[in-house]
Parts: sequence; C-alpha cells; structure tokens
Amino acid sequence: MRNFIIQLLSGDPPDATMAFLSNQRIMLKTITSLEAITGLLSDHSSRDPRRSVDAASMGWQKDTAICSYIDSLEPENRGAEHFRMHVFSIDSTPADSTTAFGKIVGGEIRTDDDIMVAATLKRGRVRQITTADGTVSIARSGDMVNLQLHETMDFKEGDLLHRPGETLQRSDQFRAHLLWMHADPMLPERSYHLKIGSQTTSVQVTDLKYTINFNQGEHLPATKLNQHEIAVCNFATAQAIAFDHHTENAETGTFVLIDRINNDIVAAGLIDFGLHRGQNLSWQSFEISRNLRAQMKNQKPLIIWFTGLSASGKSTIADMVEQKLAAQNRHTYLLDGDNFRHGLNKDLGFTDADRVENIRRVAEVARLMADSGLIVMASFISPFRRERRMAREIAGDINFVEVFVDTPLEVCEARDPKGMYAKARRGEIPNFTGISSAYEAPELADIHLEAGERTSEELADQVLHQLDFT
Ligand code: ADX
Repeated sequence: MRNFIIQLLSGDPPDATMAFLSNQRIMLKTITSLEAITGLLSDHSSRDPRRSVDAASMGWQKDTAICSYIDSLEPENRGAEHFRMHVFSIDSTPADSTTAFGKIVGGEIRTDDDIMVAATLKRGRVRQITTADGTVSIARSGDMVNLQLHETMDFKEGDLLHRPGETLQRSDQFRAHLLWMHADPMLPERSYHLKIGSQTTSVQVTDLKYTINFNQGEHLPATKLNQHEIAVCNFATAQAIAFDHHTENAETGTFVLIDRINNDIVAAGLIDFGLHRGQNLSWQSFEISRNLRAQMKNQKPLIIWFTGLSASGKSTIADMVEQKLAAQNRHTYLLDGDNFRHGLNKDLGFTDADRVENIRRVAEVARLMADSGLIVMASFISPFRRERRMAREIAGDINFVEVFVDTPLEVCEARDPKGMYAKARRGEIPNFTGISSAYEAPELADIHLEAGERTSEELADQVLHQLDFT
C-alpha cells in the first residue's frame, strides 16, 4: 500500500501520446503506469501536475513509523476480482450504440456481458471489445479498451462501470484513513476536490474521529490534521461516488484531495467503508420552484456577500443597501456575523476550524433564503479565500456577488467601536482577525469598496449602482 501511495502522489504525468483506434474513431490515450489516477491528476490541472507534489510533502516516506503503519493497513491482497472500468470518453456513433473508452481496473469483461453505470444504475450489454491489439472476446484488469454496447446509453466521462449484481458501494458519505501531506493543516469542514479513479467531486471532512500515533498505535483526539499525520475521518461528498474498500481494489478504494485554490495535492486517502446515512438520502424536488417564488416577489434572487475586517463597515453598508432596496419594494434579508453567532452558530468560536464552519453554515442559510426568492446580504469577516469560494459554490446557480469592504487595518483599529482591537493588542482576545489571525483579502472581488474615507451612504450607492439597482 505504501508504494501505491507513493506512486499515487509522485507519479509522472501520463504520456501525452494520443493514438487513434481507426475503426472506432475514439482517441486512445497511451498512459504509463498508474494511468488512472496520475492521468486524472494531470487532467484536472492545467498546470504541470509534478508541481503539485513538493519535496517536503513527500517527507513522510522517510518516517519508518508512518510507513510501517501504512503497510499494516493492507492485511492481504485479495486481488481486484470484480469488473471495474474507468470511463475516459464516450462515442455515440454509430447512432444505434454507445462506445465507452477507458481502462479496466478490476476483473475482466467478455463480449455479451452485462454492464452497469455506477452513477445511474443503467444497464447495457457489450457488443464488441477492442484493444490496441484489435477486437478481442475478453479483456482484463490493466487493459485500455473500447467497449461498444448493443444499445445507446446515457453516461459520461468519469463514470465507473461494473457488472450488475456485483457489490460496489455508493454513498455521499464514507469513512477513510487520510494521510495529510500539505504544510497547511487540514481543517474539518473545509472543502477540497476529491479524485477517486475517474470520478471527481467536492468533499468535506465532517468528523475528524482521531489521529493515529504511529509508534504506540494510540488514537488521539484532534481538531485539525497536520502535515504527515494520519487520521481516521468521516467524509461527505457533493455527489455520491462509487467505491470499494481499499483492500478490495486499490484503484477504486483510494483517493487524493486537491486544494481548491492552488490545485496542490494535499492528501491521500484509503476508503474503509461507506456510511449508511449517506446512502438513503436524496434531494427532494418540489413543484414550487425558485423562479416561481421570485416571480411572485417580482425580483431576481441574489446573494451579496460582504467581506472585510472587523469594524471595516460591512454591516453598516449592508444595512444601508438593505434600506435602499426596501425603498424600491424589494424583499431582502440581512445575515450578520455578530447576530448569527448568538443563534445558529453559538457553538462556534474563532479558531480557523470554527470560522470555516461558520461560513459554511451561513452560506447554506444564504442559499436557502435566496432559493425562497429573497435578495440576501451576508456580512461576515469571512477571512479565508477558500471559504469565500466555497460560499460561492454552495450558492450554485444563484447569483453571488462578493463585495470587499477594503478599510485599512489602521482605520478599523482607530474606530474600534467595541474596544476589541485594544483588547486583542493586549493579548486578551486570541485569534483576532488582523492582529493574531489572518485576513486573506480578495484578489478580485466583484465589487471593491475603498472604504476607509468614504461614507457608508456613498459606498452603499456604489454597490447598488454596480448591481444595476439604481
Ligand atoms: S468570521 O471570521 O467567522 O467570518 P464573523 O463575521 O462571524 O467572523 O464574526 C466577527 C465578529 O465577532 C466581529 O465583528 C467581532 O465583533 C466578534 N469577534 C469576537 N472575537 C473575534 C475574533 N477573535 N476575531 C474577529 N472577530 C471577533
């Protein structure tokens, strides 16, 4: 297992050679060893994937305690006996059949076998199997193949194929061992990209169960995971994924996590099992839609997200914007950091992990409120770029506008309406933004308010003007 992880993290990008299977008109990617995963890593990033693994992040290989622990995770290699295939591309010509090009990563497949698409549970039957050697009647794990089906089927790049009736887990929640490699620690609730085989989705750690002390094998409680530590965690993905236990099939049971901002590979994981609670949930669609609710209010839902230091003027400006919108008969709601922390988020403090969770909950609430047809203003320091991006992603297809209330720290500190900066300077408030905790200013906010010297009325007018509300 250790070698697998090393390869997983450091593998050279696939050979970019493309060859055509002339009779199928499908591109055959010639991919070197570990093609499935390293190939995906390079696909996902426009940058050189080798950049993603810095020398320091591989330092854990030298730690014999970690290595022997990782080796112990593989009790026996049962061999990947069940048919699994990662789909890299699809061809729908001729019109009466679909052909999937991809790599078999488990078991074998024969002509006339039934196959199933893991994501949709749709079935098909294999008409013809073609490899680089031509048409064959059987293909096995490791082969790159074109599978032409007897029928047309609706599936897509990134799907996983298997055989109906053979066990394959599907869930949007699972438990896994996670090896963290990046210098920035893993914070539960922070959102990462997950790549497992050819599937990719967003993921969050919902519960950091414990970290593992390699020497004594003890389980230790933890609130974050530092570089070169291993933990057991529960995960929740945005879309359900299909997977195996990592000892059953290393290709469908291991994954990597990728940072959303800089595309670095930050961790490798080994899936232990799916959590049942994730298997029985589906999103209920109702008849009354967001559009209908918004039409009744005669407006377009919107989330206006104000970010900036404490005392930068976010809430005052948001309040002014809301008053002006109300004067235009718009239906609005203002979510505010100080108020939110008295209710829904009263269990949260100001550690990095708590701020991440604070923003996640606020973004979910903002989305629900906008879904009900409202124009929502959110006024939170929201100091981290990753979580502001997460908030935008949670908003999905709802229009999301980031407003940077750019008031210099000296001005905020001079204002100090609640005396907090003074206390923070005296060391009486830990993790205070701008003093003892970072504020990552937006690089390209949708609306940039140079707020130090101008009145809140002027600034509110700028927001409304840029949003075409005037
Ligand atoms: S956020 O960082 O998680 O987005 P949020 O906007 O909810 O912060 O709350 C910020 C408010 O909490 C500040 O306006 C301030 O009144 C109060 N506060 C208390 N402790 C801190 C702290 N350590 N850092 C920043 N704000 C704090």
